[in-house]
Amino acid sequence: MGQSDKTDPDLGDTTGKAEDRILADLRRGFELRYGKEPRIFFAPGRVNVLGAHLDYNGGKVLPVALGRGTYVALAPSERSASRFASLDLPGDFELEPRKQIPADLLGWAAYPVGVWEQLGDRCPGPFDFLVAGNLPRGGGLSSSASLSVATAFGLLSLGGHPIDLEETARLAWASETGFVGVQCGIMDQYASAISEHGRILLLDCHSREYELLPFAEDLELVVLDTRKPRNLVTSAFNQRVAECSEAFSILQARDPDLVVLAHARAEQVEAAADELGPVLTRRARHVVEESSRMDAVHTALEHDDHPALGALVRASHKSCRDLYEVSSDELDFLVEGVCAFDGVHGARLTGAGFGGCVVALVEPGSFSHQEESALLQPYAERFGFEAAVLRLELGNEVREIQA
Ligand code: GLA
Repeated sequence: MGQSDKTDPDLGDTTGKAEDRILADLRRGFELRYGKEPRIFFAPGRVNVLGAHLDYNGGKVLPVALGRGTYVALAPSERSASRFASLDLPGDFELEPRKQIPADLLGWAAYPVGVWEQLGDRCPGPFDFLVAGNLPRGGGLSSSASLSVATAFGLLSLGGHPIDLEETARLAWASETGFVGVQCGIMDQYASAISEHGRILLLDCHSREYELLPFAEDLELVVLDTRKPRNLVTSAFNQRVAECSEAFSILQARDPDLVVLAHARAEQVEAAADELGPVLTRRARHVVEESSRMDAVHTALEHDDHPALGALVRASHKSCRDLYEVSSDELDFLVEGVCAFDGVHGARLTGAGFGGCVVALVEPGSFSHQEESALLQPYAERFGFEAAVLRLELGNEVREIQA
């Protein structure tokens, strides 16, 4: 999830290199390092527009793939060991097949190795691997999921296996939860693996059914990066997962038909409030209310109703702040600040929270450079460091880059 000491692969740079430059650097770096030409695979990052912290609670989510993501260059190797390296970061290493995987792999290295382990017999023979990316570092835009998905897609392709995109997402997810140790839901890996150009993904994380709906032809999504360093996010995130699982156990003991927390009704939560206690009641309220916003979002999208979509997004942020308690002063400042401009329908934190990025729904042209400075200057004065506005292109797909 691209967001912490252990889990942040810290790929890419915050200026966002354009694809042509990355590809040229990656090919040159690969040839210099390994002396041969690679095949290159890409998987996108994502912003989640609505459905905060619902994936691991069996609810619905609404992510859209970004133009930026992670590029993985691969080629078979004649050596016995596979070699791994990053274009931008230190930490090159080699792994012999069937050797014990070092338990202390940190940062970006844990992601490809986790996928390698998940693939088991389907992993090709020894290979050489080089990675580069152009998502902001640790911004909560799924740099890690895009790395895992690009690796899974690339290794399956290299091994000549048929590729099922949902299975690719599940492999990437299993690697992050099983090997890297983040108890994340399936949203990021699904968004990276199955998104299509010009579409937003409405995914039911319980049934795994999904729709790819037309989106954003006449709406701009602006991403505001708090650039707040995010430490210990994994433990805070895993704590929310544990709280929700506890709340679910209590509610399910009262109603054995309840299958996931996101399906609970508001009355059930209120009736159990004493037993849940104040913290679990707040967490469960968020999940239940965010789920009803997800039920309303389909109609807003169908009617291209930007004000209605904006109102849902604003309410989601408020709930993340007050009930789920995953916001921060920096995120709140940017959300409130950007929503004060005409033509901005709504904004909310995206990803896990605790820092990272805000996504704002904006009428094209209404949040220009003038408005940008009017927001960023007071932010820098208040917090002592600068935020960034990212006008990211939307829509990209997992794919092999044709030479
Ligand atoms: C992180 C996780 C996702 C999801 C979001 C919150 O990005 O990786 O699985 O839980 O937080 O919606």
